Amino acid sequence: MQQITGSPDAGTLARMIDKKRLPVHIAIIMDGNGRWAKLRGLPREAGYEAGVETLHKIVESCVKFDIKILTVYAFSTENWNRPRDVVGFLLQLLEDTFSREVQQLHEAGVRVKILGRRAGLPASTREHIEKAEALTAENRRLLLNIGFNYGGRSEIVDACRELAGKCVRGELAPEDIDESLLAAHLTTGGCPDPDLLIRTGGDFRISNFLLWQIAYAELHITPTYWPDFSEEDLLRAIVDYQNRDRRFGKV
Ligand code: IPE
Ligand code: IPE
Ligand code: MG
Repeated sequence: MQQITGSPDAGTLARMIDKKRLPVHIAIIMDGNGRWAKLRGLPREAGYEAGVETLHKIVESCVKFDIKILTVYAFSTENWNRPRDVVGFLLQLLEDTFSREVQQLHEAGVRVKILGRRAGLPASTREHIEKAEALTAENRRLLLNIGFNYGGRSEIVDACRELAGKCVRGELAPEDIDESLLAAHLTTGGCPDPDLLIRTGGDFRISNFLLWQIAYAELHITPTYWPDFSEEDLLRAIVDYQNRDRRFGKV
């Protein structure tokens, strides 16, 4: 086991990582964008723009270090309760970012998937999402799941509705519903659970992210605001993850 002492640089951290025990799936709650902006006397929106830059860099780092799945939380079902102009800005930012960056993601072998309730999004946002998903569907280097209008509870409710519908139509018996079937009906269906969940911005809470899927994820919470999160911070989280004893209920 390698303890982190002092603040090693990215090169040292990269050498500390055991390539045979990498987390397959990393999830990130990208929090602290507003506070990052406020600290600099900038409008909140500047924090989101900087946050997109960070996501771009972290996606590249995941490709570089052979992480297979990255799931990020960009907009929660509760974030609709923010001021209208902030919500409008975030919807526009998703569209602009997709227009600008999807081709590059595609060329890097990244498959993009949006998790969350589609029906609640404007038609133009849905079009951008569908186009990006279709273009990148066959890519296998990295799966990038983006939670947008995502809530862990609504996701479980939607899965239950679908299962109940199948029971009513006689396609499924209630006693055939088990954990793997429910998991398959979540928007992450078919994807292994996150091994490591990172939250930036320092708050020790889950905020309705991946409630089902993080049952046994290792949690890494850093006070760093998302726009400041670097490859070095990602590597530090991976080293921290590799120092954990994952018992899964066993002795
Ligand atoms: C998280 O950043 C991203 C979204 C919710 C869109 P915040 O906007 O919550 O940033 P803070 O927590 O206010 O700093
Ligand atoms: C969680 O951040 C949601 C996203 C990062 C998209 P919030 O800022 O919405 O979470 P709370 O309100 O601090 O719990
Ligand atoms: Mg926040």
